[in-house]
Amino acid sequence: MSSQKQEIVRRIAAPDIRARKGGEPIVCLTAYDAPTAALLDDHCDLLLVGDSVGMVVHGMPNTVGVTLEMMILHGQAVMRGSKRAMVVIDMPFGSYEGGKEQAYENCARVMKETGAQGVKLESGPTVAETIAYLVQRGIPVMGHVGLRPQAVLTDGAFKAKGRTDEERLRVMSEAEATADAGAFAVVIEGVAEGLAADITRAIDKPTIGIGASAACDGQILVTPDMLGLFDWTPKFVRRYADLRSEIGRAVAAYADDVKARRFPAEVETYFSKKPVSP
Ligand code: KIV
Repeated sequence: MSSQKQEIVRRIAAPDIRARKGGEPIVCLTAYDAPTAALLDDHCDLLLVGDSVGMVVHGMPNTVGVTLEMMILHGQAVMRGSKRAMVVIDMPFGSYEGGKEQAYENCARVMKETGAQGVKLESGPTVAETIAYLVQRGIPVMGHVGLRPQAVLTDGAFKAKGRTDEERLRVMSEAEATADAGAFAVVIEGVAEGLAADITRAIDKPTIGIGASAACDGQILVTPDMLGLFDWTPKFVRRYADLRSEIGRAVAAYADDVKARRFPAEVETYFSKKPVSP
């Protein structure tokens, strides 16, 4: 046996997040790869391997084309890069809406093949029953109400929800059904002012907001958005860095150096060993 002590770090798990209702705000970001997950791990309670990966990493127009295999591959990378944060994998469009058994089979596969601590399902009107089925069988589930990106084809566009009384009631009842079904937390995305506060008061599970006001129990952003990787970001995003300019500047400097034969210099070059004189 090795005499070296191994550092054992306990990962944050669903009951820890659940216990933060009304307490210290829960810090969440999306992650899709190992090096970024390693950078985020010290600062975040929860890393979501969002199906936004389709848009922000793979250049898709929406999340509908994201597959289970893509989520598993990115989930494995995020698990390898992180030690402490809870890792939650988004279930992609078409992987859970077909019924409870289909959902269980796919969620169990994701949990086994990634080692993540939970999954996220967009909680449309029919999903509460599926969430209860999964939770009863040992799968921690985070719900997602309000603007549901996977419904973009029926909605016609990514539009904020809860601007009419009818819509407010619908989103509220979806959040209540999701919480009652046993979700350990509920993401609220893109809702009009006041609705997230009402939901946060009404349900006994932590709410995680994205474009949903400061009234939630925690916040999440899509990491490349908050790091300023794109030239456009939605209204609710605060940019904490301008990586787009920084990367553009670095790549232009590299291209100039290559063209002018300034790169590589001697210090960046391997030389053969000098012969040893007799
Ligand atoms: O896929 C994703 O990144 C998400 C967040 C926007 C919550 O679902």
